[in-house]
Amino acid sequence: MRFAELFGREPDGRWAAPGRVNLIGEHVDYAQGLCLPFALAQRTVVEVAARTDGRLRLRSLSETDGWEGTLDEVGPGSPAGWAGYVAGVLWALREAGHEVGGIDLLVTDTVPLGAGLSSSAALESAAALAVDDLFGLGLGGSPTGRGTLVAASQRAENEVVGAATGGMDQAASMLSTAGHALLLDTRDNSTRQVPFAPRDVGLGLLVIDTRVRHSHADGQYGARRASVEKAAATLGLPSLRDASLADVESLEGEAQRRARHVVTEIARVRETVELLDAGRLADIGPLLDASHASLAGDYEVSCAELDLACAAAREAGAAGARMTGGGFGGSAIALVPLDRADAVADAVRAAFADAGYREPEIRPAEPSEGATRLS
Ligand code: GLA
Repeated sequence: MRFAELFGREPDGRWAAPGRVNLIGEHVDYAQGLCLPFALAQRTVVEVAARTDGRLRLRSLSETDGWEGTLDEVGPGSPAGWAGYVAGVLWALREAGHEVGGIDLLVTDTVPLGAGLSSSAALESAAALAVDDLFGLGLGGSPTGRGTLVAASQRAENEVVGAATGGMDQAASMLSTAGHALLLDTRDNSTRQVPFAPRDVGLGLLVIDTRVRHSHADGQYGARRASVEKAAATLGLPSLRDASLADVESLEGEAQRRARHVVTEIARVRETVELLDAGRLADIGPLLDASHASLAGDYEVSCAELDLACAAAREAGAAGARMTGGGFGGSAIALVPLDRADAVADAVRAAFADAGYREPEIRPAEPSEGATRLS
């Protein structure tokens, strides 16, 4: 189904925004921490035409349901489903005082859905950039303006869709540049492009999608978020960003373990960035491994399939491996010597077959550019 067949005219343009993986800095973006995601080559593409009557007509080639309504019908919980990510962005921009009209929008391509690669942030970012261009908001041309689009996308996700996520995914999709990872400081939302080109040093990254979709992931995500906010409150701190390891020691039981993950993970991001800045990309493997151990042990957001993916990759020669994203399924990443990439992928597939798991989907990852207009 083409745009013109659905909407009776041609689109004004096409916009694309990528999915992401997080290199390191997991489950810290709601604790004012540091994270280091990069954009993937896989992108979500939207064709969009502006309307003057405030109506929204939203369709996707990968969804059976579309949505039609007016801007005034959009708000917390409405519309439900995938259309909430798109309509929510328009709502959040209006809430922030920007004048936007209606749109006809067709999603023609998408980042793999449900793989933990932030297909939702990619959709929000593509829609946000389209709306910015079509209604002349003037935000997409500078990192600061793009930061406003990131904030609107995050608000759409938090308030319209109702998922209490941090802002890492939207920032990665909107602000990344090719050949770099994005150092995001979620305390003030400042960013820095950190050179990250594994291929230049004979390394590659594999994204291993376990194809596990954990049905309780949303509740567990909210529970982790609540526990780190409670730990910060117990310590009398605004967030765990300001906590020391001594502070962590003063906590007990589960609170201590959750807080230890956050505090040590933020330190690992700093160490990773130091190594990358020093041209020592090949040395970051142990930090990836330590991040995974912390997420699996202290934070308890891994699962058997993610653990096996990382262990099998390491055993077959990966320099480091960790789960990436929210956890409980989704994807892991492995840093591998390029000449071992196929062997590592084969070993992970074999380990999954032996364990009786579904065959994982394994893709190479290349640090790519953020959201952009295509035509
Ligand atoms: C999900 C959320 C992000 C972040 C990660 C964990 O991807 O959308 O905001 O919290 O989990 O790092």
